[in-house]
Amino acid sequence: MQQKGIFLSVVILFLTINSVTHAIQARSDKEQPQTVVSGTAVQSVVPVQAQSPVGSSSSSQGASASSSTFNPLGPNVMCSFLPRDFLECKEPIDHRNNETAKKEKGYGCLHFGGSFYEDVEHTKVQCTVYTDIDCYGARTFFRDGVPCVRYTDHYFVTTLIYSMLLGFLGMDRFCLGQTGTAVGKLLTMGGVGVWWIIDVILLITNNLLPEDGSNWNPYV
Ligand SMILES: *[C@@H]1O[C@H](CO)[C@@H](O)[C@H](O)[C@H]1NC(C)=O
Repeated sequence: MQQKGIFLSVVILFLTINSVTHAIQARSDKEQPQTVVSGTAVQSVVPVQAQSPVGSSSSSQGASASSSTFNPLGPNVMCSFLPRDFLECKEPIDHRNNETAKKEKGYGCLHFGGSFYEDVEHTKVQCTVYTDIDCYGARTFFRDGVPCVRYTDHYFVTTLIYSMLLGFLGMDRFCLGQTGTAVGKLLTMGGVGVWWIIDVILLITNNLLPEDGSNWNPYV
């Protein structure tokens, strides 16, 4: 009877945490567009993006601009000098530790993730100026210094709560995608409590991270 009660309360606790975190995520999803819009007035142009195929670089204005010489005092800036708000850039290529693939391509990421600037790999990506933006020169070019970082649905606070409350079920490692160790943790009841505590410490010291190499989602 008592075991049933404990099991029930664990299930209820899990459901409560799940709904709370979903509410937090839903709220942060709503906030994300606002943070984009709240910048300069110019940024409101970006959502009107027209998907511009690479071939459109030979559109009328592009062709006429590149045929005349560049006038530094003229109204047009070089396309490659435009800020990111005016560009549609590809995601960095993931070479998954394949050095030969990176050498062949000339750019891309060997690994993703990292917290400190020195730990994060940087690469160049192909960017195209949005169709209606007027500028001088090639409209498709490479932009350097893009960090090899990606964000998925992994939130630090959520994971820490999971780790502290449901660590003995390995729920934190399940959420991070580390299924192998998670099953081990579940079967040993969190290493009889020791592993449970160790993982909380690992999380806080930034040594337990999402399996897919993504960073903690900052929107929470
Ligand atoms: C690395 O990339 C090259 C070129 O794309 C490919 O031929 C090779 O099989 C890859 N190696 C591994 C271990 O995936």
